[in-house]
Amino acid sequence: FAGLFSRTNSSAAPAVAAATLQPLTILFGSQTGTSESLAKRAAKEAGKRGFAPTVVDMAQTDIAKLAGEKNALVITSTYGDGEPPDNAKSLWEALAKDDAPSLASLNFSVCALGDTNYAQFCRCGIDFDQRLEKCGAKRIADRADCDLEYDEKFTKWLDASLNALGSASAAPSPAATSSAPAAATDSDAHGESLYSKKNPYASLLLSSRNLNAPGSAKSVHHIEFDLAGSGLAYEAGDALGVIPHNCPELVADVLTALGFDGEEAIASADGSTTSLRQALTTTYDLGKPSPDLLAAVAKKTTAPVTAGASVAATSPAPHHVIDVLHAYPDAKFTAAEFVALLKKIQPRLYSISSSPKAHPGQVHLTVGAVRYDLHGRPRKGVCSTFLADRAKPGDTRIGVFVHSNKAFRPPANPDAPMIMVGPGTGIAPFRAFLEERMASGAKGKNWLFFGDQKASTDFLYQDELTALQKSGVLTRLDTAFSRDQQEKIYVQNRMLEAAAELFAWLEAGGHFYVCGDASRMAKDVDAALHKVVELAGKKTPEQAAAYIQNLKTTKRYARDVY
Ligand code: 2AM
Repeated sequence: FAGLFSRTNSSAAPAVAAATLQPLTILFGSQTGTSESLAKRAAKEAGKRGFAPTVVDMAQTDIAKLAGEKNALVITSTYGDGEPPDNAKSLWEALAKDDAPSLASLNFSVCALGDTNYAQFCRCGIDFDQRLEKCGAKRIADRADCDLEYDEKFTKWLDASLNALGSASAAPSPAATSSAPAAATDSDAHGESLYSKKNPYASLLLSSRNLNAPGSAKSVHHIEFDLAGSGLAYEAGDALGVIPHNCPELVADVLTALGFDGEEAIASADGSTTSLRQALTTTYDLGKPSPDLLAAVAKKTTAPVTAGASVAATSPAPHHVIDVLHAYPDAKFTAAEFVALLKKIQPRLYSISSSPKAHPGQVHLTVGAVRYDLHGRPRKGVCSTFLADRAKPGDTRIGVFVHSNKAFRPPANPDAPMIMVGPGTGIAPFRAFLEERMASGAKGKNWLFFGDQKASTDFLYQDELTALQKSGVLTRLDTAFSRDQQEKIYVQNRMLEAAAELFAWLEAGGHFYVCGDASRMAKDVDAALHKVVELAGKKTPEQAAAYIQNLKTTKRYARDVY
């Protein structure tokens, strides 16, 4: 009887709904999964408001399909140097063509994700927004350009877009006009454990060692964290989010510049109070100043600046909070006023360099310490130097969470060959992949291209790689040490030298992986891959491009680049 009831209910519901529900396509361009999870969140909310949403991976659609659609929300991140994420590339290229079809019957709105620390902030979303309009589509709500703290902007954008779509199309459902926007939650954030960006796990730092020999220009650290008993699970290919603390010397300099002693009380979000020193160490970002801070400084200083923006434009340009304070010493704040003008410190994501099968209860990272000079002041990468220098093995607990990276996995088929290109810290996920194949007994062949400055000081994990070669897991290792001879030799040169064999591995069902620098290395490696397929496969450039496009659509070309 109950069964009959529920069947009656479930068949009646769609019949009513079909008359009122509006179709809504939610396209995501995503490299690490953030846009994808926001697309799912948007779909949930749209469903509540009387739409029939479909979440679509940009790689799984094309411009002809888009031309036949009525409503689309576009959520995309930007990658590397202002580029579209890998899954957005083909749709973007089609859209950017002069003879792109008309999208005159499409209503759209774009949510762009980015990071204001990059020059090409939100570039891909901006490009999509402009191009969709150029193709005749109707923008129904303004684009949102979101920084790393995207929650509030995203929620507002979604609300405005769904409201506008509700009125742009005929016959909004009663639900669309009555229901209030649901508060954005992180319930569908990455990883399946109870720990997340908002609720990180306080993991004990187990060890940290420099992988470079003395005399190296670099300082790359192998870092091990304890996960035993945490329930925090990850897979080879995932990233680890790490919540850093600021350098105490930088905090001290900021306090001095402001005339504080650091003991001033600051109210926390949870109602408790902490000292200003503690808040500046653990909660606030002392990197690039917020527009609010610049505007406030401009207002307070008697120095000749006329508008908030011009504070940023002074020469030499202040780059960090401390530079602004030094440039305008007469701008005075109360402690509470000052922290309200700062951005929150953001977790950093690192590609995990261990397989959980090889190191149960642990997670490993391979972190290059960032140090440089700016305006005569030594600067330190916040998280990398926290991990390399300031955190104490066996003592410091560090907030971490797993950021799943489902598009970057060893082949599901244990017999498929794997070709990995990972110079510098780009080796990280491939150490994990090789450990995974070793632990699981996968029989597929494995080929690693590694490069760095000098073999004598920068051959990261040399002992481990040699052991993996001896055991037969690492079938082939090609190295490119760029500064061991007069002319530069890079991983892509080694790929070209081995073109015939590389192509043979691809023909045998090989998966091709790249990790590391996005702006130069990954581009050059991509170009080299095209050359390899042209030369060894005897193909025209167009045929080679189609061959590589097929690798991507069959998920045999994956990149983890930054
Ligand atoms: P270089 O610094 O000597 O130029 C890891 O950082 C390695 O990547 C280094 O050997 C570095 O060489 C090299 N590298 C720099 N630019 C590159 C590029 N465009 N393609 C591949 N490797 C590159």
